Amino acid sequence: MSANYEVRGSVAVITLNNPPVNGLGHATRKATAEGIERAENDPAIKAVVITGAGKAFSGGADIREFGSPKALAEPNLLSLIARVESCSKPVVAAIHSVCMGGGLELALGCHYRVAAPGTKVALPEVKLGLLPGAGGTQRLPRALGVEPALNMIVSGEPVNSELLAQVPGQVLFQKILDGDLLDGAVAFAMEVADKRPLPRVRDLKAQHPEAQGFFQFARNTVQAMSKHFPAPLQCVEAVSAAVSQRFEDGMKAEREAFAQLMLTPESKALRHAFFAERAAAKIPDVPEDTPLRAIQKVAIIGAGTMGGGIAMNFLNAGIPVTLLEMKIEALDRGIETIRKNYEAQIRKGKLKEDKYAQRMALLQGTLSYAEIGDADLVIEAVFEDIGVKEQVFRRLDEVMKPGAILASNTSTLDVNKIASFTKRPQDVIGTHFFSPANVMKLLEVVRGAATAKDVLATVMALGKKIRKTCVVSGVCDGFIGNRMIEQYSRQAGFLLEEGCTPQQVDKAMERFGFAMGPFRMGDLAGNDVGWYIRKRRYIEKPDLRYSKTADLLCEMGRYGQKTGAGWYDYQPGKRDAIPSRTVLEMIDMHRSALGITPRKISDEEIVQRLVFALVNEGARILEEGIAMRASDIDMVYLTGYGFPLWRGGPMCYADTVGLYNVVQTMKRFARNPLDDGKFWEPAPLLARLAEQGKGFTE
Ligand code: 3HC
Ligand code: NAI
Repeated sequence: MSANYEVRGSVAVITLNNPPVNGLGHATRKATAEGIERAENDPAIKAVVITGAGKAFSGGADIREFGSPKALAEPNLLSLIARVESCSKPVVAAIHSVCMGGGLELALGCHYRVAAPGTKVALPEVKLGLLPGAGGTQRLPRALGVEPALNMIVSGEPVNSELLAQVPGQVLFQKILDGDLLDGAVAFAMEVADKRPLPRVRDLKAQHPEAQGFFQFARNTVQAMSKHFPAPLQCVEAVSAAVSQRFEDGMKAEREAFAQLMLTPESKALRHAFFAERAAAKIPDVPEDTPLRAIQKVAIIGAGTMGGGIAMNFLNAGIPVTLLEMKIEALDRGIETIRKNYEAQIRKGKLKEDKYAQRMALLQGTLSYAEIGDADLVIEAVFEDIGVKEQVFRRLDEVMKPGAILASNTSTLDVNKIASFTKRPQDVIGTHFFSPANVMKLLEVVRGAATAKDVLATVMALGKKIRKTCVVSGVCDGFIGNRMIEQYSRQAGFLLEEGCTPQQVDKAMERFGFAMGPFRMGDLAGNDVGWYIRKRRYIEKPDLRYSKTADLLCEMGRYGQKTGAGWYDYQPGKRDAIPSRTVLEMIDMHRSALGITPRKISDEEIVQRLVFALVNEGARILEEGIAMRASDIDMVYLTGYGFPLWRGGPMCYADTVGLYNVVQTMKRFARNPLDDGKFWEPAPLLARLAEQGKGFTE
């Protein structure tokens, strides 16, 4: 049953019932329309209430149906809303918890709306690269006012019901009801049962005293802020139509724009990202009801760059943290950095003084392992050296209470080996945070060969609590993200040798949509990090070729912003990347030494070589089972590496290009004698999917 029908006195109550959030799928729409029909035909019924079962009024159109014939099957959302609006008896929407997208549009088609306080109300379609497609752009401006409606539609952000009810002149909510919502809604329905004519939002006028100037300003703002997303501008146009055109014509314009946006690659990518984020939280062999270990106290070993940032995540979530260091100076420095970070947030108005005090009160420092033994979770963030990790984990094995989770923040070391330093490998796991750890969304959760299922489930749940996007990775060097980025960086190095400048590569990648190109990124993160890894590689994999340009740069002491010079020059205290003559000369000399005549390389080739390098390594990672699904790889890149959201991540992007085309391009790259031909052999999974005409993510 996807909508229930019951009678309370003279009121019919239709309850949307399509878990988890009452998405308006076909069965729900049909049952709702039938409920209206039944109520209208029953002389004993004087009014109707529509509400939602469980944890939402409705989360909107059922996005699982997008692209399938069910989405359009009658009654579609538009015809359902029209049916509700034309009901000859008053229909009251009783709204609670979540009322979004098509759910709000359905409510706007009702004659009256009452809501519980604290209900999150939104038209979030823009976040999926769409606009509200069932009258939202036409009815919300009429019910709420043009300006607040436009803000909601363009931002997609939820607003609390009681705030909306305070908007002057609004008719979105007739009542905010404390107490039992359904009782209140039924009583309200009886109050209005005999009132005629029935109020319809569509009959109101959407007005703005300075409409022309207002919409021009909105267009300019939206274009400047979201140049890669067509949807926000379409939202402005549709709301403008609500003001300038008749209701029917505005609806037609909205419908056309919705249909067009649905076909755009940007919307496809954003919808992919929405599902990818939710899929990443699911681990097929770990049941969702796995009992979790309680995490009430956390200890962190090492108060350096990562330890401090990691600690802040837990403090922000109200979880006490003990930081352990070797020396008092390092401990004091670590705590001072946390303090300074919070103070900077206060200055920016992002944190209140009392919250700051509460958070700092949860933080303790220590030099003694005896003081952390009762923590439920300990995260190690000491130097990236297996000997140091061994010492720490042997000590943790001695002092931590039974059942404590022992996590390592290592970025390259073998989590299984780390687990073997303890007598409880089942309790050991990797938690790979990204820098700055208090800001970056991504958390790679590294599942060791022996990691217990409840340890994995507990860390995933805790990651959600500290507002991270968690992606599970198997054990390999670099896990998902860094293993792929190494191939991307190798290609960037080859491009320099063949004729590019760092700024040309960066510009091309930034035009593609990356937040930063590889060289600006290197300067930010520190070029010495990659240097350290390459030195290890030269011993481990002597046959693997790297461009030496990055080593030469480091030999000049140009580690990046922190040394005032890297691939670019930097003025003291500033972050603007200034092209460096010294670096260009170094690259020229290196080319001459190799006997390479530079050639002109197109932006297209730059983008393809860098992105397809990610794709090929991603395919290997997928085939080896390091990543559970292609969409997990996309989440890693969208949340940890600045991959453009509207392209959906590298694997989704490869699907958009077409895997056949990707493979053909790789074969072309393989013929370039200055490149690594062997690397460009398509990964077997990629070759197979291309052959079958399939994609990674479908
Ligand atoms: N349809 C179907 N399933 C939906 C859904 C929807 N509209 N919205 C969420 N879900 C599913 C999720 O996929 C997830 O499923 P899972 O448990 O199987 O992974 C489950 O509901 C719970 O979702 P969350 O983990 O996000 O739970 P929260 O409680 O944190 O948030 C929510 C709930 C606020 C509804 C949030 O999911 C959300 O923002 N959803 C998107 C809503 C949206 O974009 N609606 C517009 C749809 S487009 C539309 O209506 C077009 C119309 O204008 C024509
Ligand atoms: P860091 O050098 O800034 O901090 C390490 C801290 O650990 C220092 O304060 C040091 O005094 C302390 N320490 C060293 N040995 C110790 C011991 N035996 N007991 C207690 N404290 C000890 O290093 P950073 O950058 O914070 O890295 C820590 C870990 O996080 C490493 O494993 C690194 O690979 C990983 N990592 C680093 C990232 C980065 O961008 N810096 C990103 C992701 C992971």
